[in-house]
Amino acid sequence: MHVQASEFTRVSTEPGAGRFPAAPEIEGRYHREHRGTVGEVRLDLPRMRCTGVDVHYGDKHALRDVSLDIGMNEVLAMIGPSGCGKSTFLRCLNRMNDTVAGCRVSGEILLDGKDIMAPDVDVVPLRARVGMVFQKPNPFPKSIFENVAFGPRIHGLARSHAELEEIVVSSLKKANLWDEVKDRLAHPGTGLSGGQQQRLCIARAIAIQPEVILMDEPCSALDPISTAKIEQLIDELRRNYSICIVTHSMQQAARVSQRTAYFHLGDLIEVGETDQIFVKPRHQLTEDYITGRFG
Ligand SMILES: Nc1ncnc2c1ncn2[C@@H]1O[C@H](COP(=O)(O)OP(=O)(O)O)[C@@H](O)[C@H]1O
Ligand SMILES: [Mg+2]
Repeated sequence: MHVQASEFTRVSTEPGAGRFPAAPEIEGRYHREHRGTVGEVRLDLPRMRCTGVDVHYGDKHALRDVSLDIGMNEVLAMIGPSGCGKSTFLRCLNRMNDTVAGCRVSGEILLDGKDIMAPDVDVVPLRARVGMVFQKPNPFPKSIFENVAFGPRIHGLARSHAELEEIVVSSLKKANLWDEVKDRLAHPGTGLSGGQQQRLCIARAIAIQPEVILMDEPCSALDPISTAKIEQLIDELRRNYSICIVTHSMQQAARVSQRTAYFHLGDLIEVGETDQIFVKPRHQLTEDYITGRFG
């Protein structure tokens, strides 16, 4: 196998060049010299660029040497068996792992070319630029209006109440929630249905003008109709934002994303266009997962 001693060791554009040699069992494919991501991890114009990212929780090495670009106006899906490091990687992208005791992150993560791990980076504006939507909708115990107005107010994005109202209305519209809540903006956000609460959380993220929206299994607590609404919304949001979504549903990854990243036991195994990953995976582990043999 052709191996270069640069960060691009992990990148291979030749068809099949990155496929690990056939081995009798999964462990056999994990020789260190063959560890690498199959597929193109780099993009011409990345919004974010991760290089050699490692994450430890105490002694546990949870994510190993991950290099991956996140594009502009794309939905990137992250899939893989439970515990493979999807949430850990997502949390690296806005330094949410800073809040996890015992967690150490190393490597380089750039947002628009600037290192977000630099010691002088203020995580508050960073987390506005790289917003996050969680698995369980978590509206503040405040009114629908205040849920969306809170961020713009603390980030000083509105100069008057009229401007603040404008931001709230446009964010609720962009989150496809306006028609359902316009008559009850003063009601508590927690009184909405689960699907509406999740769209409220998306409106709250949008209100502070993010560039990237991270979503960690955003539909796993929702019914199929609410899920369909969120998926449609994700597709619309792609026009203006970069979206990284962790999902345990391969169908969802196939429906909403343009690129898919497959993680396995802390390694980024394969990255590619979503159609290719699901129709013609190049790595045996990806194939085993998507065909249901593993996971
Ligand atoms: N706060 C933590 N402390 C210790 N280990 C953790 C912590 N969070 C996650 N891990 C471990 O890191 C690995 C990756 O976890 P995670 O990123 O949550 O996986 P996924 O989201 O793919 O299910 C798992 O082995 C998990 O047990
Ligand atoms: Mg997770």
